[in-house]
Amino acid sequence: MTASGRSSKVTLISDSQDSVCFACPPGISILRAAKNAGLELSAGCMQGRCYTCRSTLLKGSVVNSRPLSRYAMIDPANLGNGKVLLCSVTPTNDIIVVPEGPWETKRT
Ligand code: FES
Repeated sequence: MTASGRSSKVTLISDSQDSVCFACPPGISILRAAKNAGLELSAGCMQGRCYTCRSTLLKGSVVNSRPLSRYAMIDPANLGNGKVLLCSVTPTNDIIVVPEGPWETKRT
């Protein structure tokens, strides 16, 4: 959640330098906000276990969008080397991320 309680701006960048922006409301995972914005990102378990949604955080900061289980082996907001899991984190300010998997805008 942002300090002001407002949505954060999320910018996704691909390896080919395509980019798209969407709003992420406080407390909502980045992956869920992307789906709500009409984007399809690589995802699997949605629980921070499979790493399919692993991404590099280039700018800004994130926190876990739900409490960590006491059995959690990893911290989705800090996997090391700037890596995060989009299914399990929410921005604390405007961010720029590079998903490792492909993503696309849903066609209607
Ligand atoms: S979808 Fe499995 S770790 Fe994010």
